[in-house]
Amino acid sequence: MSEIKTKRIAVLAGDGIGEEVVREAVKVLELVGEKGEFQFVKALVGGQAFDEYGEHLPGETVKVCRNSDAILFGSVGGPVSESHLLKWKNCEVNSILALRKEFGFLANFRPARVYSDLVCICPLKEDIVAYGVDLLIVRELLGDIYFGEHSVMVEDGKRVAIDIARYDEDEIRAVAHVAFKAAQKRSGRLTSVDKANVLETSRLWRQTVHEVGEAEYPDVELSDMLVDNCAMQLIKNPSQFDVILCSNFMGDILSDAAAVLPGSLGLMPSASISASGFGLYEPSGGSAQDIAGMGVANPIAQILSAAMMLAFSFEMFEEASLIESAVELALAEGYRTKDIYSEGKILVGTQEMGDIICSKLMDITRR
Ligand code: IPM
Ligand code: MG
Repeated sequence: MSEIKTKRIAVLAGDGIGEEVVREAVKVLELVGEKGEFQFVKALVGGQAFDEYGEHLPGETVKVCRNSDAILFGSVGGPVSESHLLKWKNCEVNSILALRKEFGFLANFRPARVYSDLVCICPLKEDIVAYGVDLLIVRELLGDIYFGEHSVMVEDGKRVAIDIARYDEDEIRAVAHVAFKAAQKRSGRLTSVDKANVLETSRLWRQTVHEVGEAEYPDVELSDMLVDNCAMQLIKNPSQFDVILCSNFMGDILSDAAAVLPGSLGLMPSASISASGFGLYEPSGGSAQDIAGMGVANPIAQILSAAMMLAFSFEMFEEASLIESAVELALAEGYRTKDIYSEGKILVGTQEMGDIICSKLMDITRR
């Protein structure tokens, strides 16, 4: 029997509900891995790190990540009532954007699915979601207005602020390859989103994406959609989409719109990937400070993010789909955390949901 290589996972639970939901994901990983297959190394990030080091992303944490095979990330950010404190000032930007830049996470995967057992909590009419919703947003993560020049000044006695949106063709090409490959693995359809009727960055985006597609992915059916129309189509007819490719800023907005479809942010996992395949896995939701420490947060987004880690970083596809099936089983049997609860279902807390998913996992693997 070949020896199992230990995989080091940096665990950055962060603030708010981070700690409680990450705990459940670690539990699930320990269950699917062989004994000693995963080594978890904790490190501080966000407000938690600020208390200890006076910064949101300490060098020590970066070092732990660098020495790991993947990062399991919880959430960062403080309560609204404390937003004036230095501890929370720019906390998300200093932690999340800095990690993206540090590790070159160029593409962000945000899948949105409407589970058949949760159709009733999807805010859209049932006849709209009747055809099923299972889409993937691939968002560019290192360019655009996020990382262009930012400046403030006074001109003619007026305060002025400038944020520059910038893309070069290599940046677009890199994320386009990721999206085309993802489309090949799914139903082979890719919608590239832009604002090419107005923006130069979008015109370059569209042109480059088509060049990549024509040269290397003739099997993928590529279409373009303007971002304003895409926002509308996500609500009007989300079933039409398979993979959606978009720029950093547009992806930020569209992925939050898509996050409404499953019925709760607590169901939305995500993965951020570098060119070398290194990845950070985190729920799409934030730190949800209003429910932190109450044991009611939904751990599913974190658990599904861990499943994405298995598939993307460790090529453990079977284990990843076992976790997804265990989540579906827990939902099919009616277990619900508060955010996805509807009448007649069984209300459970964070830890209980983790336990139920673990027990479903054991049931499936024993079969
Ligand atoms: C996200 C978040 C971040 C972003 C913020 C917290 C910097 O909204 O991951 O979507 O804008 O990218
Ligand atoms: Mg966002």
